[in-house]
Amino acid sequence: MSDLVPTAGAADRAPKVRAMFDQLAPTYDRANRVISMGLDQGWRRRAIAALGEGGRGDVVDLCAGTLDLTLMLLGNGARSVRAVDFSSAMLEAGRPKLPENAPVELITADARKMPLKDASADGIIAGFGLRNVPEVRLALAECARVLRPGGRLVVLEFFQPETLSARLLQGSYNRFVMPVLGGLVSGFSDAYRYLAGSIDAFETRGSFEQGMVEVGFVEVWGRQMFPPVASLVCGTRNPGPELEAR
Ligand SMILES: C[S@@+](CC[C@H](N)C(=O)[O-])C[C@H]1O[C@@H](n2cnc3c(N)ncnc32)[C@H](O)[C@@H]1O
Repeated sequence: MSDLVPTAGAADRAPKVRAMFDQLAPTYDRANRVISMGLDQGWRRRAIAALGEGGRGDVVDLCAGTLDLTLMLLGNGARSVRAVDFSSAMLEAGRPKLPENAPVELITADARKMPLKDASADGIIAGFGLRNVPEVRLALAECARVLRPGGRLVVLEFFQPETLSARLLQGSYNRFVMPVLGGLVSGFSDAYRYLAGSIDAFETRGSFEQGMVEVGFVEVWGRQMFPPVASLVCGTRNPGPELEAR
C-alpha cells in the first residue's frame, strides 16, 4: 500500500488524507463519474434542493473538492459561495470550471477549524467529504457556529449500511468494483480501496444524525437516495432560545 494512503486507526489521519486527495485531484472527476455510473450529479442536485431558500444566499461548500457542488450552487442562484477544502490541489483542479467573476472564494482549510465568521452562512453543504474528517463532531460543531440561526446544513454521504441487504450490495460494490474502476481511471487503486474502507469505518446515518442534534441542530432528518447507497442528511441550526420558546 502506498505511503500516502491513510491507515485506519491513525491518530490524526488528516495529513495523509490530504496528501491522497492532492494526488487524486487530476483524475477525480472522471473516476467519480465512472464509479457512480453517472449517478453522482443527480445526488448533488437533490442535495442542493434540500438547502431550500438558504441555497440562494451565502453558502459554504464544505469539503468542496473539485467544485461540482459549487458550480451547481451558482446555477441555483446562490449569492456567494465559499468553497472550503484542505486540499488546494482539489480546489485548483476545479477552478477552471468556474465562470469568470463568479462570486466564489476558494479557502484552503480544515473542516474542523474554518476561518469563517460566526453566523455568516445561510446554508452549508458537504458532499462526500465528512466521512474523511477525523473527529467529525468537531466539523459539525464548526458548521453550527458558522451557520446563521435557522440556516440549514445538508450532508450528502455514504454512511455505514445498516440493513443486511444494503451491507451486501454496498459492501461488494465497494470492496470489489470501486478499487478496480477507481484504479483504472486514476492509477491509484489503493486510494480507492481506502475510500471504500472509509465507508465501513464511518458512522451509521442514525448515529450521525444524533451527533448533529448534540452540537445544536434541530429538525434533523435523513433519507436514502436511489439506489440505496448514498444518503442525504439535513438539519437546521438551532434558531435560539427566543425563537424556540414561541
Ligand atoms: C470525496 S471528495 C468530495 C468532493 C466534492 N464535495 C464532491 O462532491 O465531489 C472529499 C473532499 O473532502 C476533502 N477533505 C477531507 N477531509 C477534509 C478536512 N478534514 N478538511 C477539509 N477538507 C477535507 C478532501 O480534500 C476532498 O476534496
